[in-house]
Amino acid sequence: MDLSDIFESASRSKIFADRSLLRPDYVPLELPHREKMITSLGRILSPALVGDRPSNVFVYGLTGTGKTAVTRYVTSALADHASKMKTPVPVSVKYINTRENDTSYRVLAEMASGIGIRVPFTGLSVAEVRARLVGALRSITTIYVVVLDEIDAMISRIGDPFLYQITRMNEEIQPSQMSIIGITNDIRLADNLDPRVKSSLNDEQVFFPQYQANELQDILAERAKLAFLPGALEPDVIPFCAAIGAREHGDARRSLDLLRRAGEIAEIRGANRVQRQDVEEARAALENDTIIDSIKSLTLDSRVLLLVLANAKLRGKDKLTSGELYASYENIITNGLKDNALTERRLADLVKSLEMSNLITANLVSEGRGGRTKHISLQIDPSRVIQSLADDPRLGDLAGSVGRDVLAHHEDCGARRWIL
Ligand SMILES: Nc1ncnc2c1ncn2[C@@H]1O[C@H](COP(=O)(O)OP(=O)(O)OP(=O)(O)O)[C@@H](O)[C@H]1O
Ligand SMILES: [Mg+2]
Repeated sequence: MDLSDIFESASRSKIFADRSLLRPDYVPLELPHREKMITSLGRILSPALVGDRPSNVFVYGLTGTGKTAVTRYVTSALADHASKMKTPVPVSVKYINTRENDTSYRVLAEMASGIGIRVPFTGLSVAEVRARLVGALRSITTIYVVVLDEIDAMISRIGDPFLYQITRMNEEIQPSQMSIIGITNDIRLADNLDPRVKSSLNDEQVFFPQYQANELQDILAERAKLAFLPGALEPDVIPFCAAIGAREHGDARRSLDLLRRAGEIAEIRGANRVQRQDVEEARAALENDTIIDSIKSLTLDSRVLLLVLANAKLRGKDKLTSGELYASYENIITNGLKDNALTERRLADLVKSLEMSNLITANLVSEGRGGRTKHISLQIDPSRVIQSLADDPRLGDLAGSVGRDVLAHHEDCGARRWIL
């Protein structure tokens, strides 16, 4: 056997036939249990095929219920059908994730790119980008279907007047016409929109209910057929992943993530079958990822607060008073991280919001003689805080030294300097 055979057989998976089918951005060819929503959206968009403007649509439902997958599926089928008709109808479709493109400039630039107009990444005024988009739409004749996904992100950042502006653009772009599909998992969003936006976006609505466990099983089984090698899943793996997803508000993404991660864990184990135990491990690993992501997204001040609490906990001190916490925080912050530490009042706000995210608890206790303080403790495994901050550009060294110290059971006073 030559070396390339050895490498080839080592790199050939015993679990996956095609793991890319389990990637989050993969749009499956079949979407079981979404026939109703596919038909509704298809009906709403079909006037485009005879050159009429489809109504604007508001697509909503909880996370992982298939909104993005179904909308992408239907809109690309529409564009496909339009281009293959005997006399092809000019229909253009553009999908924009407004969490990733979260400024008016970016959204308009993406809209322009959907009809072949390149706009530089920055440098023009928003009005100029808008003018180019309008000009381009006027010079061609198309029905332009624009999908604005995760519009709650866009609205919280740039407000709903912008959305209103987009829906009003039709008056200026003739002979082209534009339809907007807005997608959100914030079910109350429609109620909170400016009434003018609401009435212009809300011509039609498509609601996505949460999946039931048996529906999730079908979805997983369908995907597993192509993604896994035959016989690579123990029979209870899919029902178990489906049950967990169903419990977490019928979330297909959650179930699919579990299945993929369980497969990877089995693979690392060197096994040729995925077992229930691998799903258990996958679940713990995914929860860990969620915590780590939420810590990484905090402000520097909040990350320092968590690091102080983690360090104390690893050294056997489960709670700190607010005074102790703030003093250690200040010690670290003023040691070259920032010019000024936050005031106690601002820190108290941060503590409150960390408490709301269930990362810490803060209990008010009396201190004798009428004084009161808070006892603050970390609610998560301190090693997760260290792990989250290990590659932090500003706190990485500190987090690393806490981790190493504790691993070595090294109660060195130097490292304790900044604790208490
Ligand atoms: N009926 C289905 N059949 C096959 N796969 C599905 C189905 N519904 C959802 N999925 C898959 O589940 C995952 C989540 O779906 P999707 O991204 O469409 O959810 P969403 O409703 O847009 O969620 P969010 O609000 O968080 O954006 C995707 O990987 C998608 O391919
Ligand atoms: Mg989505």
